[in-house]
Formats: sequence, C-alpha cells, structure tokens
Amino acid sequence: MERSLSMELVRVTEAAGVAAARWMGRGLKNEADGAATAAMRMVFDTIPMEGTVVIGEGEMDEAPMLYIGEELGMGNGPAVDVAVDPLEGTSIVASGGWNALAVLAIADRGNLLHAPDMYMDKIAVGPEAVGKVHIDASIKENLQAVAKAKNKDIEDVVATVLNRPRHEKIIEEIRQTGARIKLINDGDVAGAINTAFGETGVDILFGLGGAPEGVISAVGLKCLGGEIQGRLVPSNDAEVERCKKMGIDVNQVLYMDDFVKGDDAIFAATGVTDGELLRGVRFTGAYSETHSLVMRSKSGTIRFVEGRHSMKKKPLLVMQE
Ligand code: FBP
Repeated sequence: MERSLSMELVRVTEAAGVAAARWMGRGLKNEADGAATAAMRMVFDTIPMEGTVVIGEGEMDEAPMLYIGEELGMGNGPAVDVAVDPLEGTSIVASGGWNALAVLAIADRGNLLHAPDMYMDKIAVGPEAVGKVHIDASIKENLQAVAKAKNKDIEDVVATVLNRPRHEKIIEEIRQTGARIKLINDGDVAGAINTAFGETGVDILFGLGGAPEGVISAVGLKCLGGEIQGRLVPSNDAEVERCKKMGIDVNQVLYMDDFVKGDDAIFAATGVTDGELLRGVRFTGAYSETHSLVMRSKSGTIRFVEGRHSMKKKPLLVMQE
C-alpha cells in the first residue's frame, strides 16, 4: 500500500463526519447516516486505489451506496479490502450524545474478515494487556489480568460495556470485583479503541456488539498494538446458516489474525460528536473543524489530524469542478 493513502483516507472520514454532524440532535438517525454515507462515497471516488467494500452499509439490494462488493476508488492504486462505517453511532448523533465517529479501515485485498452483520461477543484491551486476557476466561480473571498488566488495583480498572439488558450479568460480575464501569449507550468502536489510549480512562471492553464494528475495531487495535477477540453470536437459524455459508464456525474464537491478516492496514476515524479521544465537528460559520485519528499498522504511526475546511470553497469537502 502507498504511505500517502493514510492521508487520503482521512479526507474520506472528514467528509462523512462533517455531513453527519449537520444532523446532530435532530432526532433523525437515518438521515444522518445517509448524509455520512453519501459524503464518504463521493470522496472515495477521488482516491487512487482499487477498493472493494467487504464491510459496508448492507448487501447490494439493501443499500444504495457502500454496499458489500461495491468497488471504490479511482482504480489506479493498490487493491484493498475496505470496511466502512460512515456513521458509527447513528442514535448518538440523533440525540447529540457522546462518541459518534465516521470510520473506515482498509487492508490489502483478501486480508479483512468478511464478518456477517450480526452480534459478536467481544473483549478488547490496549497494548499492556495483550496476551493476558481471553474471551473464555471469567470476567473476574480478565479484570485481574488487566489490573496486573497495568500495575493497578482492580478497583482502579474501568470496563466499558454497552448499556443493554443482555449485559446485565456481565455488569453484575464486574461490580462484584470492585472494578468500575463506563456504560455506553452506543459506539463500541470508540469503546474498543479507547482501551489503547490511557487518557480516555478505560482499560477493557466487554460484551456483544455488531460483528462489522468488531472488524473495524480490530484494525484500529492492530495499529495501536492492542487486541480484540470475538465470537459470532447468531440470533436465529438464518444467521447460523449465513455463518456456515461464509465458512465461519460460530464457536470459533476470532483472534487478531482472523480479523485482519498481513502487516499492513490503515484505520481512519473522525469525531462526529465529542468523545474521550476525538472532538466532534465544530461549525464556525466560515469553516467546519474536524478532529481525526489515522493510523497505519505497518509503520506504527498514529496521527491526530485537525482539519479546518472552508465552507465557502469546499462545502462538501471535495473540490467541485
Ligand atoms: P449504529 O451506528 O449502526 O446505530 O451502531 C451503533 C452500535 O452501538 C455499535 O457501536 C454497536 O456495535 C451496535 O450498535 C450494538 O447493537 P445494538 O444497538 O443492537 O445493541
């Protein structure tokens, strides 16, 4: 892959982020998602790459844009798999909540897991705790392992969990250990990535979220030297069948190399609403201001990018001919 692709890709998430941010607090999550998707799609067309969507907005007959199998890019660059979530946290934007992202991940062609759109059980940690936790260990064992790896008391460990009735047992088990919890309403990509940044104050993510979000999180954590493990959780026979067709054993634990193969992958995200790691989009009148994170696993470079985009010259963040 070209090194310069990272900076090209952050333009994609910036455009999606700005488009989605326009819908903040308006109670219209589908419109916010649609705006982010259209903006993301438009900027992809300006990028020298030969991309194929493997994680996208749905199957071809369900999604007008960024559907699975869609080809992206100008076609004169590296052949890559593309995973997109133009708006990760549609309900977050609808209510003006915390941690909505425009996010994408790429890897060399054939290297990203083609995860079906269903739930996945996940555990994610930052670099210090890599190799110390396991999805089949108890909540207590995993929290103890993280506390030890980070040289802190278990009472000082913070676990992120999506606030859902299905997680009652996990939450209860965490509470029994004395560890602290950050319950999030949505957005487990941010939840996973944040475990690798000390300043966010979270150490581990537990629980069921979307499988596609698991793949995107895995690319982010690969760039950061962290780890996610997952297991698909089909909700019905049709989903079990779907896994079979895709050649994925539903009992199998998915490790980092199952999510993303090879040593080269890129992750880019732009904050749509404010979060622990990324500021949301600001509109100043003349400009829209963005805060993004872009990382490449091969080089290990992690960049925070601040953008100031002229609303007069480039209202959609691409030059109009
Ligand atoms: P959307 O942006 O598609 O609404 O997803 C938000 C999200 O919270 C993800 O971060 C998470 O993986 C998933 O939804 C959890 O699903 P559910 O809302 O069904 O619990």
